[in-house]
Order: sequence, then structure tokens, then C-alpha cells
Amino acid sequence: MPLNPPNSSNATFLDDVLHGLGSQPKQMPPKYFYDAIGAELFTQICELEEYYPTRTEISILQKNATDIATKLGEQAMLIEYGSGSLDKVRILLDALSDPVALCAIDISAEQLKAASKEVQNAYPELEVLAVEADFTQVVPLPSPETSPKAHVAFFPGSTIGNFAPENARDFLAGISETIGVDGLLLIGVDLKKDASRLVAAYDDAKGVTAAFNLNLLQRINFELGGDFDLTLFRHIARYSKVNGRIEMHLESCTDQTVRIGDHAFDFEAGETIHTENSYKFSSDEFQALAQSAGFDHVQSWSDPEDLFSVMLFHVSSR
Ligand code: AVI
Repeated sequence: MPLNPPNSSNATFLDDVLHGLGSQPKQMPPKYFYDAIGAELFTQICELEEYYPTRTEISILQKNATDIATKLGEQAMLIEYGSGSLDKVRILLDALSDPVALCAIDISAEQLKAASKEVQNAYPELEVLAVEADFTQVVPLPSPETSPKAHVAFFPGSTIGNFAPENARDFLAGISETIGVDGLLLIGVDLKKDASRLVAAYDDAKGVTAAFNLNLLQRINFELGGDFDLTLFRHIARYSKVNGRIEMHLESCTDQTVRIGDHAFDFEAGETIHTENSYKFSSDEFQALAQSAGFDHVQSWSDPEDLFSVMLFHVSSR
């Protein structure tokens, strides 16, 4: 009898894990990284020396806030997809002229409530609309009391890189449909660079990313009654130049059988579970992707080393 038998509330997690481990090659959807421990480890990742995206994107937003705000115009409604702590959007709110509303969309009810309340307290004039939803699905927007002059979708963090290219296109096309003809998209994109710099960002010296990756197995043990021995798996991060992506894997250190409830999965030494892709783009590649989803490029802002880009698009009139 497993310690924590599967129940209906984690049926999807169980289904996805059984399906992923039964696939060849073995894989797991990255959305399951983010339980409470995983979310805390991700916060630590964002503060690591090797993990440049977070601080680089923040510095781009801070340095160019006035210019970006001018392009977004006055009386805008901001819509943040996967809003989390809402820290980055505050850089925009501070620079914007008379923003009418912020719509924060997140799947985590607790964080959404806390972060929205904080923003509401800090910006009493602003209408803050919290929408608890899976932002990867099309989310209908609530109507603010004051009609905005423009709808601005904000998607920072280079999370677009965690989507497979066809899913990224569908997701962006869904946003363009949602925000309509007066719509703008401000998005954070991690740029292609030296492979060693990329690998270091996903395989840090302190082992925080390794702990983040391995936590997936711990989560399966706790929530689904698995018997993964975490000491018999190791974290791998590698850059696939052909696919333009960092791949994270968990590699079995030995031949072994892992059980989850009544299900058994055989691993050969060296076999991996593919846990995450993080796509990197050239500026042209991303503009082409956005164009295929119904957006025209307006302007991009980058850092002196061209590590990261914050890109602005408008919904194309076609
Ligand atoms: C959330 N996402 C943008 C991160 C990334 O860089 O792809 C997730 C991550 N995985 C390991 N480190 C960070």
C-alpha cells in the first residue's frame, strides 16, 4: 500500500506521470515542478549568479521604462499572463500615464490573492482584476470600469521558451484574439548565446537547479506513492544547438525498477526522463514566430551583452 495513495484530486498528475514514464523516451511535463518546494527553489534559481534572465530582464525594464511606457500609451489596461509576484509589472505601472486596470491571471489562487492585494494597496487608483485560471488556455478578459485605450498583454520571464514551438504559436495567437485590434504584446525573450553560458544557467554550482529538477521525483513519491531513490538519479542540463533549446533531464545512475502504486518502470543506467525544454531565440526567429501568431514587431529593448530582449508587438491589422 503506498504511503500516499492516489486520489481524485491528483488524478491528472498521476495520469501524466504514468503516461510520461510509459513513453519512449521517458518524459514529464514541466508544469509539475511548481509545488510549494519547487516554487521556492525557482525563486532561489532567479537569484543565482549563473541565472542571468531575471536580473537582466528587470534591468532592461527599469532602464527603458519611460520609453516603453510612451509606446504603451495612456489609459492602458495591462494583462499579465502567469502573474506570480507581480513585481515586474510594477516597473511598468510606475512609468505609465494613468493606467486604468491591471488584470492578473494566475493558476495559484493564494499567490494571486496576496500579490493583487499588495498591488491594489500600492496603486489605489488602479482597478486590479484577479483572474484565477490556467493561462495556457484562452482566458476571457473581465471588463474594467473605465474603458482602456489599449489592451497590453505582458508576458515576462522568457516563459514562452518553455512551450514547444507549435504551442507557443497557438498561445500567442490566443492572446492576439483576446486583446483584439488595439492590442499590444510586451514579452520577455531569452536570446541565443554561447552554449557554456546557457548550460551554467541551468546547472548552477550550488546545485539549486539540480534540487529543483529532482524535486519532481520527490513530489511523485509524496503525492503518488512512488519509490524513487533520489540518490540514484542525477540532474543533467544540455544545450541542443539543432533545436535551439536547453534540455533538462534526470538520468538514472544504474539499472533499476521504480514503482508508483501498482505500476513498475524499468530504467537502464544512463537512461533519462526529459523534464523541461527552454527554447532560446534570435531576435529574427522570435519576430517570425510572433508574426505567424498575428503580431507585428514594434520595438525591442536589450542589455549591453544581448543576453535577453524585451519585445513589443501590436496585433496585426490583417
Ligand atoms: C520558468 N522558466 C522561464 C524557466 C526557464 O528558464 O526556462 C524555468 C527554469 N528551469 C530551470 N531553471 C529555470
